[in-house]
Amino acid sequence: MSAKKILVVYYSQSGQMHDIADQFCTSFSADSSYVVSYEQLKPVTGFPFPWSAFSFFNAFPETFKEKPIALQPFSNNIMGDYDLVILAYQPWFLTPSPVISSFLQTEEGKQLLTGKKVVTLIGCRNMWLGAQEKVKKRLAAVGAKIIANIALVDKSPNVVSVVTILRWLLWGKKEKWWILPAAGVSEADVAMCATYGAMTKAALEMDKLNDLQQSLNEKGAVEIVPELVLMEKRGQRSFSIWSGFVGGKPIGSAARNARVYLFMFLLPTAVFILSPLLMIVSALMLRLKRDELMADVEYYKGNGPLTPPRGL
Ligand SMILES: Cc1cc2nc3c(=O)[nH]c(=O)nc-3n(C[C@H](O)[C@H](O)[C@H](O)COP(=O)(O)O)c2cc1C
Repeated sequence: MSAKKILVVYYSQSGQMHDIADQFCTSFSADSSYVVSYEQLKPVTGFPFPWSAFSFFNAFPETFKEKPIALQPFSNNIMGDYDLVILAYQPWFLTPSPVISSFLQTEEGKQLLTGKKVVTLIGCRNMWLGAQEKVKKRLAAVGAKIIANIALVDKSPNVVSVVTILRWLLWGKKEKWWILPAAGVSEADVAMCATYGAMTKAALEMDKLNDLQQSLNEKGAVEIVPELVLMEKRGQRSFSIWSGFVGGKPIGSAARNARVYLFMFLLPTAVFILSPLLMIVSALMLRLKRDELMADVEYYKGNGPLTPPRGL
């Protein structure tokens, strides 16, 4: 019997997403009946890492609007017929990062994914729900089926992870410092991906995919905090307005730069003010509209259908 083919398509600035994908593939790579190939996507014009504050916020409008960017040519052998495609990605501004979003819009990407089984691996701060909805739509459009989603987040409180991720992304400092924990997904959570990979492999081999997501969730593959659902809903709505406003002027123009600076000031301020406020609102909602909020949480723990209960 010929070996089963697995393709890992990923992008990573710091290497975190690569480590997550690597852990997930442990059991597949150790089994000679599988061939695992990695395709690291690269943009033609790279994004800085660490970022300057300006370049970070300047990337927002086009990212949020999922405007495709040019990617470097893919490897010659990427266009094979795969038994499983692992899409390992990170959200940027509540949207799949531009490299991933562009890949999903290329003809090669669409062709490669058509009718395939897909595992989505997410490595982020803590807001991935809307990005996954956007990925789900693109995958559904080519008849690809998500068999499992694993969303790894930074489990520190929301305002703490805003500080630590900005320290990491803007200054390159990921390690813990003073009262601040290390930024990003914890090593233990990354290591846990090997278990998620083994569970996925077993489910594929026994053709028991229906219960897979539920079993993964029981092990912590997707954990959803109700107040972050509320926060992300508000974020998606305000980002769609702000991306139109900041992106409404040509890149490099004085008017655009001024709008980027305004956004740079307002976004962190909003997070710091909204975060504690939403904790209170969601505690209230959990009492008053518990069923609705829990229905949202259940929806985002699964992989379909395509319409969230009350929209993101
Ligand atoms: C421009 C930018 C925007 C980001 N926006 C989000 C976001 O909306 N939600 C989130 O949870 N994480 C966000 N992150 C964190 C990333 O999802 C990711 O965890 C981090 O960049 C490390 O990924 P890497 O593997 O590419 O190094 C953002 C990162 C960058 C660089």
